[in-house]
Amino acid sequence: MNLFDPLQIRDVTFRNRIAVSPMCQYSSIDGAVDDWHLVHLGARAAGGAGAVLTEAMAVVPEGRISPFDLGLWNDTQAEALARVVRFVHAQGAVFGPQLAHAGFKASTQTPWQGHGKTAEAAEGGWTPVYGPSAKPFSPSSLEPVAMTAEDIARVVRAFAEAAGRALETGCNLLEIHAAHGYLLHEFLTPLVNLRTDEYGGTFENRTRLVREVVVAVREVWPERLPLWLRISGTDWSRGGWTVEDSVALAMMVKPLGVDLIDCSSGGAVPRAEIPVGPGYQVGLSEQVRRGAGMLTGAVGLITSPQQAQAILAREQADVVLLGREMLRDPHWPLRAAHELKQEAAWPVQYERAKW
Ligand SMILES: Cc1cc2nc3c(=O)[nH]c(=O)nc-3n(C[C@H](O)[C@H](O)[C@H](O)COP(=O)(O)O)c2cc1C
Repeated sequence: MNLFDPLQIRDVTFRNRIAVSPMCQYSSIDGAVDDWHLVHLGARAAGGAGAVLTEAMAVVPEGRISPFDLGLWNDTQAEALARVVRFVHAQGAVFGPQLAHAGFKASTQTPWQGHGKTAEAAEGGWTPVYGPSAKPFSPSSLEPVAMTAEDIARVVRAFAEAAGRALETGCNLLEIHAAHGYLLHEFLTPLVNLRTDEYGGTFENRTRLVREVVVAVREVWPERLPLWLRISGTDWSRGGWTVEDSVALAMMVKPLGVDLIDCSSGGAVPRAEIPVGPGYQVGLSEQVRRGAGMLTGAVGLITSPQQAQAILAREQADVVLLGREMLRDPHWPLRAAHELKQEAAWPVQYERAKW
């Protein structure tokens, strides 16, 4: 496998194995994309990425991380997004919203206001925030309201409705966010989910919400289009979610219509021992790929073309997702093709830089 080999998932062809990892920009008013998002996402599509994922787009207003997050809970937001979809597609990249609910991590301030601090008292902040249980993320976080069965059903519906809007705008990829200590991950991990009903306790019960969301999304998201699921492959914490759990979850959601597991990690508890370093989550992707026999994405401190190429050549992942390196260099894929001497489609406007 090479970085610039195309990837076919269902009826969609990705021109290469490089995806822009979802990255919140905290720059939205009322959850809608604006010029910033068009330029930010558009530049990375022109820069040669095979897939461009949006930042987390909340499926309900109270599911935003900050008041400035994107959302896809109304048609105005969908109409604004259509412009970005058109531009990204015109550059030859696949475009996918990341659908999300921030759970007990909702209603925080932006990073430049002191991310993690609750936004309750700040402009646009709100209460309550919701979670599987009334256990806050940290002592300084808001105490969430434990969701009722009706609350849960409403969130499942909201994911499906957002997927319907994504389809109407012409998106050809969707990612469900079940990582980083946000709502779906909160239900998965026994470190946060203390419920005693059918959504808590056993592995079967803790995975129920994710499975319900996948099923509801697949009911509106057509068979011809790919669906990715981002998980935290491990909580890096004793008594928490493990990579073996991730393999078991992958095997459960594959027949429900998930095509690729995007393997991130951590986020459920503030004090986890995360061995941060180059490619530190690649092993999770490799284990899920081997264990579940599924397509996977590797993410986390993948920065050089040679490193990315090696991950694919060793079959540790089918896709690499780049976050911060794409902020440093939106043309990373074009540079990678140049350095690795692999064939990539350059924008005609940039072809004089190709050789
Ligand atoms: C500014 C910023 C915003 C992020 N927002 C999201 C997000 O909305 N959804 C998500 O799943 N991950 C988010 N992440 C995590 C990245 O997608 C990625 O997994 C992480 O940064 C590790 O990859 P990297 O080392 O290539 O940056 C964010 C990261 C950054 C730096």
